[in-house]
Amino acid sequence: MSEHFLVTGGNRLEGEVVVGGAKNSVLKLMAAALLAEGTTVVTNCPDILDVPLMAEVLRGLGCEVELEGSEVRITTPAEPKYHADFDAVKQFRASVCVLGPLVARCRRAVVALPGGDAIGSRPLDMHQSGLRLLGARSEIEHGCVVAEADDLHGANIRLVFPSVGATENILMAAVLARGETVIDNAAREPEIVDLCNMLNQMGAKVSGGGSTTLTIQGVRKLEPITHRVIGDRIVAATWGVAASMTRGDVRVRGVNHKHLGLVLDKLRLAGAEVTPEVDGFRVIQRERPKAINFATLPYPGFPTDLQPMAIGLAAVADGTSMITENVFESRFRFVEEMIRLGADARTDGHHAVIRGVPVLSSAPVWSSDIRAGAGLVLAGLVADGVTEVHDIFHIDRGYPRFVENLRGLGGVIERVSTE
Ligand code: UD1
Repeated sequence: MSEHFLVTGGNRLEGEVVVGGAKNSVLKLMAAALLAEGTTVVTNCPDILDVPLMAEVLRGLGCEVELEGSEVRITTPAEPKYHADFDAVKQFRASVCVLGPLVARCRRAVVALPGGDAIGSRPLDMHQSGLRLLGARSEIEHGCVVAEADDLHGANIRLVFPSVGATENILMAAVLARGETVIDNAAREPEIVDLCNMLNQMGAKVSGGGSTTLTIQGVRKLEPITHRVIGDRIVAATWGVAASMTRGDVRVRGVNHKHLGLVLDKLRLAGAEVTPEVDGFRVIQRERPKAINFATLPYPGFPTDLQPMAIGLAAVADGTSMITENVFESRFRFVEEMIRLGADARTDGHHAVIRGVPVLSSAPVWSSDIRAGAGLVLAGLVADGVTEVHDIFHIDRGYPRFVENLRGLGGVIERVSTE
């Protein structure tokens, strides 16, 4: 059975939407539960498939995991298993975040490589070289990344790029290593800060979260705790961009607007009135959006995960937008689908030039990843007629209650199943 969305264009989005916990945080926080024997509780978990998939990975490592509503209870044994096999990890890349905690707890980790990804190759070289500096041996063997350490010790590690995943794995290994570790050119994403906060609550000694230098004093043991996941800034911004594209008025709650500083500035440049609020922000767009230029960069730069939605905005903006993708080389592949919807777009390497048209034209289109799928639905909202968006399992992986939320704002969308 496959499912697709039918999106009817032409409706202004209006109302309020509440976002849940961040997908890019919750999975790492669940992995961090491996670092402490006993029961760790993670709250404000989003209702997306990756959460039960991560629960399966942890069960395979010997944990007991209970999911109830937006709460996950993970009970980690004194001696977790160290082998996450292919069946457990194949469905989502983020599972590689168990690598650091397993090396820290078991001094040994074997994690199957999840395979390719539509947005570009995603090597693990920085994860491995960081773990090697902490004293581990690490190789790729028989389709798995293997890491082993007799003794984990502090080290000075300078990342060649502020990789989110490498920062997290090295951080989670270093918290139980002997001595001091300094990670330079560390990723600064709010999800990294969330992880640092959780680790510190567990008894770790991490300072510098949110800056380019993380300093970690290794401790012998961590304790299980309860931690609430931060709101999903990418989901929140998706609704903000949708408000701007449809000349709507949307209040987004459940997120810290400070995590979206540059994105909200870009919406202002597109002509939106953006008001920060205690628990989120509000976007009102009265006229046709204006063209925007941006380059994706690690935080606090413009997030690569929002590039497809922003291209949707550029496609109907007044003027020509210049967009540069600096993080994932294949992320522009989905632009072909936007062209199918009538976008006047051209890409050359990691640059795209989009000449805005007043309205897009509905067509069948295919999602290639979570964010491309969301970008195509937004484009469908401003296309004439009914746009069919296929391969929507991608969208379901990142957007809890997507149809309900969009309908709640006045969007016209239907989920259709076919044999
Ligand atoms: C995370 C997010 C993803 C987001 C990305 C960048 C999760 C689950 N996913 O992915 O949604 O788009 O951050 O904000 O949190 N790289 C290497 N070698 C490495 C590691 C990374 O070359 O060892 C490269 C990647 O190929 C990519 C760049 O570094 O070009 C950034 O990747 P990274 O920040 O690691 O992204 P992820 O953690 O995989």
